[in-house]
Amino acid sequence: MSATLTIALSKGRIFKETLPLLAHAGIVPAEDPETSRKLILATNHPDIRLVIVRAADVPTYVQYAGADLGVTGKDVLMEHGGEGLYEPLDLRIACCRLMVAGPAGQPEPAGRLRIATKYVTTTHRYYAARGRQVEIIKLYGSMELAPLVGMADRIVDVVDTGGTLRANGLEPLEHIADISSRLVVNRAAMKMKSAQVKGLIQRLEQAVASRGKV
Ligand code: ATP
Ligand code: PRP
Repeated sequence: MSATLTIALSKGRIFKETLPLLAHAGIVPAEDPETSRKLILATNHPDIRLVIVRAADVPTYVQYAGADLGVTGKDVLMEHGGEGLYEPLDLRIACCRLMVAGPAGQPEPAGRLRIATKYVTTTHRYYAARGRQVEIIKLYGSMELAPLVGMADRIVDVVDTGGTLRANGLEPLEHIADISSRLVVNRAAMKMKSAQVKGLIQRLEQAVASRGKV
């Protein structure tokens, strides 16, 4: 008999974009997390279930074995640090760039920059590597607002089309990293449930490759 595999996903973008890859791997959730209030979702496979968690919590659930596997943005993974996780596969979904942005057409203010972001660790590392002392203001969302109300000089956030920056009079200034979502695996699960986990990685790998061909 095979053990149960638990996969952590977040609602919204990650769930929507992972769904076709899971379908290609033969996994279909029994319910839609956008309409169901359930946090544990069964699938058509009796031994595979999904758990629905906040995007920023996916690596933590996988690290502490609340889930065997998960799908998470590289931005979230960089911030988490990846402790206790393997990152065997780039799923090439939810692609964007992590960037420094600021008010359009304005010179850099003198003195210590104030940066608003939810990516505190990554931002600290980015500026430390450049020998810049900055003040980091932790936010949980709507980072674009901070420069508009005079709370910060810059933001660090993910950018895709640039539409949100433009709509708020901001522009991308510096590229920190290219971002896509990654499959992460709990280190113990990789050993203890080796055949099942490796089988799933392989099927998802094929799903990513075949999507690239379309
Ligand atoms: P929460 O909704 O819990 O606050 P969140 O806003 O980070 O978290 P999502 O917006 O679903 O959650 O983003 C999940 C991941 O998708 C991010 O970690 C990032 O890797 C990627 N992402 C975020 N915004 C975009 C975007 N506009 N285009 C493409 N990918 C994005
Ligand atoms: C993300 C991000 C930016 C926006 C960038 O927000 O925080 O605000 O996307 O995308 P763009 O360059 O295409 O405009 P999202 O839409 O996910 O909203 P949320 O952070 O509130 O979930």
